Amino acid sequence: MASTTPTAPSITINGIKCPFTAGQTILQVANAAGIEIPQYCYHDGLSIVASCRICLCEVWTPNPKNGQLEPFMGGKLVPSCQQTVSAGMVVYSDSPKAIANQKAVMEYLLINHPLDCPVCDQSGECFLQDYSYQYGRGVSRFQEQKVKQPKKDLGEHVLLYSDRCIMCTRCVRFTREVTGTSELMVMGRGNKEEIDIFPGVPINNELSGNVIDLCPVGALLDKDFLFQQRVWFLKETASIDGLTASGDNIRIDHNEGRIYRIKPRINMQVNKWWITDEVRYGWKFVHSDQRLRTPMRKQYGVPTECDFSRAYELVVEGVKKAIGGGKRLGIMVSPMLSCEDAYLLASAARAIDPKAILAVGPVPMRGADKVVPAGADEKSPRAFKIHAEKAPNARGVRRVLKGIGGQAPLEYSDFLKALGQGTGASDIAAVIVTGNHPSAWTTSDLTIALGGKFLVLIDTLAGELVDRADIVLPGATWMEKSGTFENAGNRLQAFDRAIPVVEFARGEGQIGLDLLHLLGIGGEYEKAGATRASVYDALAIRRQMAAMHPELGVFGTEVSTPPSAIERPADMQVVEL
Ligand code: SF4
Ligand code: FES
Repeated sequence: MASTTPTAPSITINGIKCPFTAGQTILQVANAAGIEIPQYCYHDGLSIVASCRICLCEVWTPNPKNGQLEPFMGGKLVPSCQQTVSAGMVVYSDSPKAIANQKAVMEYLLINHPLDCPVCDQSGECFLQDYSYQYGRGVSRFQEQKVKQPKKDLGEHVLLYSDRCIMCTRCVRFTREVTGTSELMVMGRGNKEEIDIFPGVPINNELSGNVIDLCPVGALLDKDFLFQQRVWFLKETASIDGLTASGDNIRIDHNEGRIYRIKPRINMQVNKWWITDEVRYGWKFVHSDQRLRTPMRKQYGVPTECDFSRAYELVVEGVKKAIGGGKRLGIMVSPMLSCEDAYLLASAARAIDPKAILAVGPVPMRGADKVVPAGADEKSPRAFKIHAEKAPNARGVRRVLKGIGGQAPLEYSDFLKALGQGTGASDIAAVIVTGNHPSAWTTSDLTIALGGKFLVLIDTLAGELVDRADIVLPGATWMEKSGTFENAGNRLQAFDRAIPVVEFARGEGQIGLDLLHLLGIGGEYEKAGATRASVYDALAIRRQMAAMHPELGVFGTEVSTPPSAIERPADMQVVEL
């Protein structure tokens, strides 16, 4: 008997057949199929209120008795964001009736909207602007005075330009449903309606910046980005949070080597639609005046600038001299570094001293893990976890060092003991220390334990170890290089370089690679199938890691890579003049 394959249920939107799963709304099916239905108040991460009315569609459903299509709801327009689909439904967002509604809604929304696109930060990424081209009228029929509303300071990061607000209430729902803090509310009625905070309760929760992303118009603005850059000048690079263990998927917006802002990328397994403010605003150290920019060596006890070639020679000479007579090298790899950085630096350390001790640097913790909204189950779809661990890659560094050393690396406290903390006895005579933290990170414990050992410091910000180190090599922040981080959920995620590294600094992976080449063992990696790269290439290094160490095979199979270029569809057709 011939078997029949059940066909997936489908609906038709604007003549296009679209499969659906039970419970989806028309708008969700359209969004998944790439069919544009205008929408303001709807957001995948928030409850559905169907208040803006721009998504209304004409809907027909088959009569179960005879299969004939009949107008749904007596032919009234239906909010597509709220209406769940049923098999055989036929939907039009481009019928004369639906288009008439879109024009009416746009006209209504623009009645009191100021014509200030030229000075509005949202210009270029504004749904009101886009939809007014696509769905609005060409002219305004409104002759009267527009209602003027105030600008308000809502919190540490957020400004409100009230008269641009279209009352979609996305921001209000976010503070009620996602953070559970409910700072925002709708005040007043009719054309006097305004978004506001409750008296004395600014919106300063840990996720407050997300309301700026949620606002479909230029009403909620980022104080940090205000008037900094027109959005069409920004280049976008897909990246991963380099400050905490959460591994949030982010987009770095930059122009001419300068970072301007961080936005979330959607990843339902990691950060959903959101990022914390510490991830959004924590990147300022990248452009700090305190960045280390050139290698330095101690000359007559004074740190003196030198070039990388000389610094590398001095590193190898200095370490070999210090460990002569049976002593050892110790390398402390910071949890702020990528897996590739850890691999190349530890390989270089083992190439200088095959007995080199491998250790993980201090892992900063702040408070305890927290789930919002308060009391929510971590696994519930709306819950968002804020990690206390403020380093992106402690797990990845441990994994790599274990793969190279064959045993778990020393944790920071044990490394301090191995350096002689408390006893003064240690067989480590030379140390490579890496930092790359966004602020001062060294403690007096480390300085004391280092004693008079030969010290190579690889760091990004000038700290107290700079004067103490025999050689200083300036490193790169994660935004200035590519690599892989392993987050708190053991997810390996690759990130791309967004901007060039500052002045004469180099990525830590590049420094490790340079040392390996100086030691003349680059060729061994070549034999393992890796390219003999003298220029760091994260993908080639991951392949090399997987080929040379079976325990690191995951770097060949399980690293998720970001989209190489973030595509943005043009808002309008380009007109050839
Ligand atoms: S401020 Fe923005 S997000 Fe909030 S209701 Fe107004 S338009 Fe919507
Ligand atoms: S998106 Fe459907 S009513 Fe607003």
